[in-house]
Amino acid sequence: MSILVLGANGYIGHQVVADLVANDNHVVAADVAFEHVPANVSQHFTDLTKPETIAALFDSLRDLDSPLDGAINLAYPRNSQYGRSLFDVTYESFCENVSLHLGGFFEFSKLAALFCQTQQRPFSLVNVSSIYGVIAPKFEIYNGTEMTVPVEYAAIKSALIHLNKYFAAYMKGTRFRINSISPGGILDSQPESFVQKYTENCTGKGMLDANDLFGSIRFLLGAGSEFINGQNLIIDDGFTL
Ligand SMILES: NC(=O)c1ccc[n+]([C@@H]2O[C@H](COP(=O)([O-])OP(=O)(O)OC[C@H]3O[C@@H](n4cnc5c(N)ncnc54)[C@H](O)[C@@H]3O)[C@@H](O)[C@H]2O)c1
Repeated sequence: MSILVLGANGYIGHQVVADLVANDNHVVAADVAFEHVPANVSQHFTDLTKPETIAALFDSLRDLDSPLDGAINLAYPRNSQYGRSLFDVTYESFCENVSLHLGGFFEFSKLAALFCQTQQRPFSLVNVSSIYGVIAPKFEIYNGTEMTVPVEYAAIKSALIHLNKYFAAYMKGTRFRINSISPGGILDSQPESFVQKYTENCTGKGMLDANDLFGSIRFLLGAGSEFINGQNLIIDDGFTL
């Protein structure tokens, strides 16, 4: 397959790039930074918050030797005030984060759908949502840490799941598919007390590693999921049960 990865430089993104390459896929990496992306992977500067750079990206991918089969959006745009607790979030900051993140995913999805129409071949888009787009936060597991689930995150990631359904229905009769994954927390040096409380809410491992997502991502991108459309695949070791 030939796959575009947006957010390719991120904690999860650069590991997804490595997995796709290791499984003999051609990968196009897009992000605003590239230090974690291998030099032999083609790199395209793309700012999700600047529609003209997304348009330029898709324009540049029209005549690839191995035409694009799909894309995964793992970008995580946010402003400098992101991550505050509820009553410290201003109206302006809330709106800005929704615009940067949800607005960006909207524009990327729209241009991917248009790209698919003009290419006249199947295209599978995977948008990355979160368990916190599915259930309300379990705030108690964050007690005693500086961490929280930002209110914008809940609004953005839940809206993204429904946006996918809208796109899937609108694109009926085309070869465009759009699905999301909702990962649980990915282990990345979080405080031990939090990890322990998080794990108590799971059925086995607890917090996941990025490589726990790889099989689901390749499945949704590939032909094996041809008739799965507008769905959200929760990968969370039972956290949302
Ligand atoms: N890490 C987790 O525990 C977790 C859990 C569930 C869902 N997710 C979701 O997975 C995705 C990736 O998470 P992560 O932990 O790898 O995040 P990250 O912050 O490590 O990586 C995000 C990437 O997005 C890029 N980015 C930021 N702003 C951008 C912009 N304007 N345009 C283009 N790229 C931009 C960054 O450069 C970075 O490479 C996010 O959407 C996140 O919400 C993460």
